[in-house]
Amino acid sequence: MPIFFWNDNLNVKNRSIDSDHQHLVELLNVVYDAMNQGKGPEVLESVLEELVQYTQAHFKREEDAMQRMHYEGFAAHKEEHDKLTEKVLAMQRKFLAGEVKLSVDLLQFLFDWLFEHIIKIDTQLAQAIKEAKLDAE
Ligand SMILES: [Fe+2]
Repeated sequence: MPIFFWNDNLNVKNRSIDSDHQHLVELLNVVYDAMNQGKGPEVLESVLEELVQYTQAHFKREEDAMQRMHYEGFAAHKEEHDKLTEKVLAMQRKFLAGEVKLSVDLLQFLFDWLFEHIIKIDTQLAQAIKEAKLDAE
């Protein structure tokens, strides 16, 4: 059962960015399900790794698009990505070291971050891509 849901407010109207974001929401649900079903550490490790990898790949895709169009908000946007990436990697390290457990709070934090980031920052990027007539793919 998913606990995180896509809604229209998250739609930035850029096909490739929106599909990445939808997949991130799906992955958060996959991690939640694995956690909720009491899956073993190997499963949790692998679903968490997938989330981490996909997040980084998605950020890189947005950053590449920004660089291609010499986007003026690049530095600030990348800083946001870097901060979240550091947090997620630190969380993963602690999880692998057995110092923290995965929790709904943690996933909720990631979802909230994503939601806010999409609405405040990615929407501007999608608009700029549209104006520059550059595809983010
Ligand atoms: Fe972004």
